[in-house]
Amino acid sequence: MGWKTLDDMDLAGKIVLTRVDINVPVKDGTVTDATRIERIVPTIRDILAKGGKPVLLAHFGRPKGRVVPEMSLRVTLPTLEEKLGRKVAFVETPSRAALEALPPETVVLVENTRFAPGEEQNAPEMADFLAALGDIYCNDAFSAAHRAHASTEGVARRLPSCAGRLMQAELTALEKALGNPVRPVAAVVGGAKVSTKIDLLGNLVEKVDHLVIGGGMANTFLAAQGIDVGKSLAEHEMAATAREILTKAETAGCAVHLPKDIVVARAFAAGAAHDTVPADQCPADAMILDAGPDTVAALIDLFATCKTLIWNGPLGAFEIEPFDAATNAAAEAAARLTAEGKLVSVAGGGDTVAALNKAGAADRFTYISTAGGAFLEWMEGKTLPGVAALEG
Ligand code: 3PG
Repeated sequence: MGWKTLDDMDLAGKIVLTRVDINVPVKDGTVTDATRIERIVPTIRDILAKGGKPVLLAHFGRPKGRVVPEMSLRVTLPTLEEKLGRKVAFVETPSRAALEALPPETVVLVENTRFAPGEEQNAPEMADFLAALGDIYCNDAFSAAHRAHASTEGVARRLPSCAGRLMQAELTALEKALGNPVRPVAAVVGGAKVSTKIDLLGNLVEKVDHLVIGGGMANTFLAAQGIDVGKSLAEHEMAATAREILTKAETAGCAVHLPKDIVVARAFAAGAAHDTVPADQCPADAMILDAGPDTVAALIDLFATCKTLIWNGPLGAFEIEPFDAATNAAAEAAARLTAEGKLVSVAGGGDTVAALNKAGAADRFTYISTAGGAFLEWMEGKTLPGVAALEG
């Protein structure tokens, strides 16, 4: 841990530029999932308690350096005020003088940083401009730390910097799960495509003792071993890559777990007629939509032998019943072992969190990351520019 926290900083009377990620889902002008907003509240409260003035910098959507009114951060204001239990001043074009003129204890939200072209280019002028607004920089946006932007990277190199409480919690949890874990460690990696997760799989086989592959990705691995997967979603062109990953795993001493049995259907639809068959017996006109009960039983036994679990991606088509069964049962087992104090479980990624919430398991996991892309890049072993900049 080469970064400072709020505890290391003197904030009294200081303007604290605080990078947060409130890139939240919105429908019809209302925030539909406030998780990211709730998770930054401790940081804002701690800055206020230490006598600092939090000035929140954030992006919303991808306006690509132009002012796009539908991507104004104003939409988040009511939820932010509700979760904080206080008014928040909204500033479209910030200046040092205007921020200083606001009374102490004011929380400020600055308009979408991505409205300025210099943000995503990490332009030195933009980073200089931001740095001149404040005295201290606090980064609480782990989920945007894979972006080297002016408000996540450039400004951190220009001001005394620290991690906020959410950033601190994310980094601590991930370090516990993958950096320096209690072994044995299992990783569950699901989702549709091998092609988007090659780096992830390649890194994980060197770090974990067990790699569980699920979802559409598992079909690609089955097909790569010469198994007919019928009409299943599979990237047949990735067969060689899948075989390379299996060889790499063997060399590294990582056991790869693929489905032993599968749930197949002729239609991708909720309630579609389905059968459970051994993994090598998918009918030519059917598709694999979930892992079967024998696979799930083996996974539950496996989790019971592990001390750490890291999870990214569902095991089946969890959005449609009954093809959420394997994901639900495995998630429940992980949650139960965690609640019993036998397992450290960390999960992240948009779909994953939705799947674990749907399974009613998320709140018993040790840690649920707010990050999507950043969680994945961290698991891939990549350096996150926003974190590296805090390390100096
Ligand atoms: C996210 O929602 O994962 C982060 O806010 C990053 O957003 P981006 O992918 O648009 O950079």
